[in-house]
Amino acid sequence: MTIKKAVIPAAGFGTRFLPASKAVPKELLPIVDKPTIQYIAEEAIDTGITQVILVTGREKGSIEDHFDISFELEHHLKAKGKEDLLKLVQEISDMVQIVSVRQKTPLGLGHAILCAKQIVGNHPFAVLLADDIVDANPPCLRQMIDVYNKIGKGIVLAIKEVPRDEVYQYGIIDGERVADRLYRVESLVEKPPVEEAPSNLAVIGRYLLPPEIFEVLETLPPGKGGEIQLTDAIARLSEHFPVYGYQFEGERYDAGDKMGFFIANVRFGLKHPELGPRISDFLIKIAEEIKEQV
Ligand code: G1P
Repeated sequence: MTIKKAVIPAAGFGTRFLPASKAVPKELLPIVDKPTIQYIAEEAIDTGITQVILVTGREKGSIEDHFDISFELEHHLKAKGKEDLLKLVQEISDMVQIVSVRQKTPLGLGHAILCAKQIVGNHPFAVLLADDIVDANPPCLRQMIDVYNKIGKGIVLAIKEVPRDEVYQYGIIDGERVADRLYRVESLVEKPPVEEAPSNLAVIGRYLLPPEIFEVLETLPPGKGGEIQLTDAIARLSEHFPVYGYQFEGERYDAGDKMGFFIANVRFGLKHPELGPRISDFLIKIAEEIKEQV
């Protein structure tokens, strides 16, 4: 069965981005000229997802507004003859069916996914974390669904090698390589200390999950950091479902981290059709100035 629904959790406080994220959801902070969450929604749409389920929280209504029609703005742009901008704005609201549900208390990623249970229904579905932007062609999620369709049934996680001193920031898998880029996951652990990490293969924010994950999440006790962890639910479900880690092709940016966010801005800026050449000239100039100073 092909996967048509994708859940994007976006309920967190975004404390790593304070003060920028105090009144503006971090998911709306732009990479060049687009909010981070739009990159994620576009990946889902380019993969063939037909319904995106946003899990939001208090003060996050502007994320829904971003994907909604904006009658006043469209009217204004039409009156001013700004057809290009009008098209740009309309394309966002035409993208895909967006449904949203609120996570009323911030109890962790696993709990956020559980909030989408009724809307997902009894079908396998995708999860995309808004902090992880993957620049890839075909999109990372498409690559994973292609793998999933070959496997038939099971769980597919996006994985990536990370430096050992960063394993404590990720879900880490222990697994055996079974094909090119593909690992059969034997166990997984959320944010282990480096000495307990079974490998340096980290789960990046893309998951293909069966609906049975909801039953597990409903009774799962809090794990790392006192939160209900998706990683723990997948570990439990691995007793009944095969779990695979897929080393996707493409460049991943940690847009949930200030430095990662900055790097993404530079990289996407350089690829931007209008701004790219000017950004490149500017960076060369800056690099020369820095070299002269050292
Ligand atoms: C979440 C997951 C973690 C995963 C990471 C990927 O952690 O809990 O397993 O490796 O996303 O970005 P977070 O970064 O939200 O703390």
